[in-house]
Amino acid sequence: MRAYRASLLWFAPYTGGAPQARFEQDGLLVVDADARGVQLVQAIGDWHSLRPQYPDVVVEDLSGRIIAPGFVDLHIHFPQTNVIGSPASGLLPWLENYTFPEEMRFASPAYSAEAAAFFIDELLRNGVTSALAFATSHTASVDALFAQAQQRQMRLVTGLCLMDRNAPAELLNRAGPNGTDATEQSLMESEALIKRWHGKDRLGYAITPRFAPTSTEAQLRGAGALAQRYPDVWIQSHVAENKDEIAWARSLFPDSRSYLATYADFGLMRARAVYAHCIHFDDDDRALMRETGAAAAVSPTSNLFLGSGFFDYLGADRVGFRYGLASDVGGGTSFSPFRTMLAAYTVGREGQTKPGVSLSPQHLWWQHTAGAGEVLAGNQHGGGVCTWGNLLPGCEADFVVLNPQATPLLARKTARAANLDELLFSMIVLGDDRLVERTVISQALDAQPQGAQPR
Ligand code: GUN
Ligand code: ZN
Repeated sequence: MRAYRASLLWFAPYTGGAPQARFEQDGLLVVDADARGVQLVQAIGDWHSLRPQYPDVVVEDLSGRIIAPGFVDLHIHFPQTNVIGSPASGLLPWLENYTFPEEMRFASPAYSAEAAAFFIDELLRNGVTSALAFATSHTASVDALFAQAQQRQMRLVTGLCLMDRNAPAELLNRAGPNGTDATEQSLMESEALIKRWHGKDRLGYAITPRFAPTSTEAQLRGAGALAQRYPDVWIQSHVAENKDEIAWARSLFPDSRSYLATYADFGLMRARAVYAHCIHFDDDDRALMRETGAAAAVSPTSNLFLGSGFFDYLGADRVGFRYGLASDVGGGTSFSPFRTMLAAYTVGREGQTKPGVSLSPQHLWWQHTAGAGEVLAGNQHGGGVCTWGNLLPGCEADFVVLNPQATPLLARKTARAANLDELLFSMIVLGDDRLVERTVISQALDAQPQGAQPR
């Protein structure tokens, strides 16, 4: 058992409506390992009432710091770290000119391993303790990312990128050695990767068709069949991000009611299916999300950078489907959850109907922690306490230690916060990796990036 004295931020169990943050100025967080060695939260609350219940536990004094749940990134591309900041007129030229050429390099296990190590370091440096990530269409990239995440004992979900048409040959799934065609081979490799990694430590597998335009019908059908055989694996893809992309997807799958419905038609929508972007939806699409239990990975820095549009929070809440925040690096411009939350605020103001919505700081923070954890777990509204992305008793103890004095301006502004919302907004607007003093992973003692000096 171990304990930490600090200011504490966490969220009440979510039962719908506005997410409710909890904050303890002088708090105590007690964690202990379960039978598997996973550190779970035992107790969280105010120092003076809790300390007498744990008189013998050694307490690390972090007074002046804020302990908060580790961030959950619902959509990020590990092979696109080098693609950040590549300008293009829109999604499709950006893919063709920058992203596909970089992703081709991940055929190399050595290139993949170096990039995976940097990527995980960068997530942890920014306070991200769980991620649903894309790899490339090369098994080497998937193995490299899983291996790195396993080494740091992170909760990470990824999978082989399925793409058997409409991309450069070097990036398409390869035919098998014994005459298996590329489509069949990609599905066999996905299944082999599920068996190798899914459920090992804190790792999970995601069936990953890149997006409908780069898969044949046969590949999407096979992916749906695989999803049916493995009901607890994740599914991830992209949808309704960009007008040209939508027109392309509609021309390739004209029999589906909409671009989103294409995925449903192939059995690829359910709980634990996370679709990035979900911008250009109608209410039938929103209802399909709600009815299937699929969720959106809202990726505001990417949507602003690529000029894709604005996620419609009002529409999502009106119809009632789930969503959470994501960086979408390298379309996204930052690994930092603070940059993402701030961009989500900006995007919320726009929406599809002006003047949009002014998202509260508690709602923004929840979308990147407890709310995203529920999406990742596949929980539905009112589905009980989620153990990821929060610090309620029983939750996995992944957390960040924030230093509100990290910069002169942060110190000045947070000292003037008159209430919790003002404090959270100060950090959302002014925060970045400097705010994250330490990232603690549930199974590891201290998940400092490799080679980093303890601060
Ligand atoms: N759609 C298909 N592939 C991608 C990708 O890599 N990034 C983004 N933002 N959209 C996509
Ligand atoms: Zn993406």
